[in-house]
Amino acid sequence: MILPVYLYGNPILRKVAEDITADYLELSKLVENMFETMYNAEGVGLAAPQIGLGIRVVVIDLDIISDDIPELKGFKKTFINPHILEKSGEEVSQEEGCLSLPGIHESVKRSSRIRLQYMDENFILHDEVFEGYKARVIQHEFDHLDGKMFIDHTSPIRKQLIKSKLNNIVSGKVNCSYRTKSVRK
Ligand code: NI
Repeated sequence: MILPVYLYGNPILRKVAEDITADYLELSKLVENMFETMYNAEGVGLAAPQIGLGIRVVVIDLDIISDDIPELKGFKKTFINPHILEKSGEEVSQEEGCLSLPGIHESVKRSSRIRLQYMDENFILHDEVFEGYKARVIQHEFDHLDGKMFIDHTSPIRKQLIKSKLNNIVSGKVNCSYRTKSVRK
């Protein structure tokens, strides 16, 4: 089922999400819906707060862009209760976008290497290192679990320049090909 994507301005996107337990009701259905919602919006990652749920669940599929970046082949994952343990490597700048911020693209500096602990959809614990673009997308999605968005990493000048676009998103004045939920409609 395709769910509406919560846009910038919805308070849920600014809350710290909580860990879930293995008995969370219909988790596999939720994960399936999150993937479907993400594919429909042509995104590569989606965090539960973006569909209005304050829980630590993230889905990412980079296989869909692996024609351009072969190292991403087969990377399709569900992260339950993820926590970043370590950030290392050099900081790299690259442009990002977000399904909750349609029409906005900004350069964001992030660590090129991260170590994290998470559970998969079967609640099996993993401790893994990710690098490069995988590390970038993971950090972007995990930010959502801590009530952060990628625009928080941009300079005050950039923030000023995108202010009117942000106001439009809050007012629901967006042109999206996917279902959305703005705070004022
Ligand atoms: Ni995002």
